[in-house]
Amino acid sequence: MLRTESQLYADFLERTPTSRQLAERAAHCFPSGLTHDGRYLDPHAIYVERAEGSRKWDVDGNEYVDYFGGHGALLLGHGHPQVVDAVQRQMARGTHYGSSHELELRWAALVQELFPSAERIRFTSSGTEATMLALRLARAFTGKPRILRFATHFHGWHDHVAFGVGSHHDGTATPGVLDDLASNVVLCPPGDLDAVRDILQQYDDIAAVILEPTGASWGQIPLAESYLHALRELTAEREVLLIFDEVVTGFRCSPGGAQGRFHLQPDLTTLAKILAGGLPGGAVAGRREILDWLDYDASAAAGREKITHQGTYNANPLSAAAGIAALTLVRDTDACERANTYAARLREAFRGVVQEEGLDWCIYGTFSGFHIFTNPDHETVTAAQIEAGEFCYQKIKAAAGSEASRMIRIGMLSQGVDLPGWPGGPTSAVHTDEDLEQTVAAFRHTVQVIRDELG
Ligand SMILES: Cc1ncc(COP(=O)(O)O)c(C=O)c1O
Repeated sequence: MLRTESQLYADFLERTPTSRQLAERAAHCFPSGLTHDGRYLDPHAIYVERAEGSRKWDVDGNEYVDYFGGHGALLLGHGHPQVVDAVQRQMARGTHYGSSHELELRWAALVQELFPSAERIRFTSSGTEATMLALRLARAFTGKPRILRFATHFHGWHDHVAFGVGSHHDGTATPGVLDDLASNVVLCPPGDLDAVRDILQQYDDIAAVILEPTGASWGQIPLAESYLHALRELTAEREVLLIFDEVVTGFRCSPGGAQGRFHLQPDLTTLAKILAGGLPGGAVAGRREILDWLDYDASAAAGREKITHQGTYNANPLSAAAGIAALTLVRDTDACERANTYAARLREAFRGVVQEEGLDWCIYGTFSGFHIFTNPDHETVTAAQIEAGEFCYQKIKAAAGSEASRMIRIGMLSQGVDLPGWPGGPTSAVHTDEDLEQTVAAFRHTVQVIRDELG
């Protein structure tokens, strides 16, 4: 049976007529009616008009437990009072001075306090800009052209990272990306240290290795902690820079991100999302001598041309105010632990549902992440094997596009739960027992319909 014939689709369509009308209007101005590929939803997106805490409400009056969490930015939930207050106060004092301001110093000081590897920082407006700048810094600092990336790891949408994520795992360029540029990026299978060793042996012109430290797509393809330590040693040995892309994990796995939790010092770190408290913002942080390639005096003293870097909204006062409020809460409260604990309870409860309903799906994840592998080919595999990196990463990625995965998203929406479509999600510090109960009930109902309809 096709998913479009499912009861879950019928329920969704019945609940969302106004969203459908807006989606029809959107099709006249946006490609696919969308402003972000990650919000694609068949048969149509939902249109949200209000959010608070762990919940959001759509234009048809439906209430959702939210696991999109602002694409991971909202560890503290929607509209945390201290963040809102900081932004409102700043709004009245000016949104853009076109000048330096004290808020950017306080914001940077918090980053440096939580991330000891951040000897110097440069703010950007997004995570994509942060990874783009980190790669340029690495090339300039080492004088080497090539970057080693891991297949399926996501670092935004700029040209160097726009292939080998959901497709083009052979490293070929996607439409609009130069072949020459792609040929300067070496893609390595995730989690395979010998493969990294071989690549570093084969190429002596690799500037940096960049990765998501808890594994691709917020831990969907998990990495072992021991792998990270081995990678740190290997890159240091070969004088190759190690870049942790902590756009998602920063201020989430722990106040000091994945590196704080695993006691590791990368050479460069990219940050965004929680960094700016739910407003736009990103940063590159790391070793002083690398960031000094942005410094006028250091570059002049070294007799080299500095890297030019502008950006109208870098460290803008609104994002800085929101960021200071959010990072202060991350530092002074147990926000990370609360989100982690909730995710662990959710994973456990989902595992119970899958077992009781007799499905061979795997529920896994670490920290405040949860992932549902719908096992479309009915392989013999356990969550522990996936977590240990002992299962084919392409199969995990492919399952995200399966009929069952798509039906989970629609079914959960119809039951008042908004999950990102991989399927899985990040949790927040403000999800409640009631949210958990509602989410698990929605999951049970959805699973039962899928089992009955898809077989
Ligand atoms: C690990 C990682 N790096 C970079 C980015 C890109 O950040 P942005 O969407 O702010 O450009 C993302 C976004 O989801 C991400 O998850």
